[in-house]
Amino acid sequence: MERRDFLRWTGTASLATAMGHVSAAEEAGAKGGSAARVRQVETDRFVLEFTPSAPRPLRILQLTDTHFGTREPKKRESDQRSFAAIRTLVEQQCPDFLVHTGDFINNDSSPLASFEAIEVFDSLGVPWTHALGNHDYGYRSIPAFRKLMKGASLGEFQESGGTHYAFRFDIVAAGQAEPAYSVFCFDSGFREPNRRVSQPQLDWFGRQMAADAERGVKTSALAMIHIPVIEFEKMRAVDLHKGNYGENVCFDNDRGDTFAVFHKSRRVKAVFSGHDHKNDYCGTWEGIELVYGRVGGWSAYGDLPRGGRLIEIDLAANSYAHRLVFPT
Ligand SMILES: [Fe+2]
Repeated sequence: MERRDFLRWTGTASLATAMGHVSAAEEAGAKGGSAARVRQVETDRFVLEFTPSAPRPLRILQLTDTHFGTREPKKRESDQRSFAAIRTLVEQQCPDFLVHTGDFINNDSSPLASFEAIEVFDSLGVPWTHALGNHDYGYRSIPAFRKLMKGASLGEFQESGGTHYAFRFDIVAAGQAEPAYSVFCFDSGFREPNRRVSQPQLDWFGRQMAADAERGVKTSALAMIHIPVIEFEKMRAVDLHKGNYGENVCFDNDRGDTFAVFHKSRRVKAVFSGHDHKNDYCGTWEGIELVYGRVGGWSAYGDLPRGGRLIEIDLAANSYAHRLVFPT
């Protein structure tokens, strides 16, 4: 791909003129230890520029199921404990990018839910994003909720008069013109019988794959989805998993369509989920790794010590690895 084409593809040229200022998300990357800068180039697409001072893998910290915001004294105390743990985790692991895979806030607990966790995340000095979880839906509408998340990089697309919360990050290494890896975030819904990745989002993903193929983009991809796909259970049932299995897999209304679309793409290498706080296992099903994050908030149910999952992407080797991490 020629540089001129790349600029057109990423939208860099027009974006610099159009924005003319540094966004809150860019600022987060600049002031923390992160070597990543995130720029929005379309409503549903971001470019994550990775420019470490010496070659190393990109570090993504997956946090999930923090369930912040319930205004009860005990929950407020446990939120403070979670904030401290997350700050420590970030100081220790020095991630370049944070991906929260849903149930960030108990928006459904009361009209008075506190959204102070957003300020905490904005102050971490690391660019971040959020894939919607079922508890993120509630009293405050999703557009209003997202308006508060000024420092986060959140995308969406419109289709048939509706707004859908799926979007992607294309990771570009220093000095490179072409993207080297992609991360896709999806919304897995909140209400029965639609607690799964919706058909419009799967159609969107198909269109993304087709457009990439036309441009010659074949990057490996990771998918971030709050509610696990049904294959998490199929894999566990035949004992192909490693890690904690402490409760039934709540794949809710997923019936295999999401996995089938990912499988067909041949580009999705792993799916990272949350939702089931007592599970943190991982394993490979039909060539795609299925990975639970680790419950991250003390206001959430479940007894597992709180932590996160560090995902390291080696762009030069086109590979990734991950492990659970804990604040110590
Ligand atoms: Fe949860």
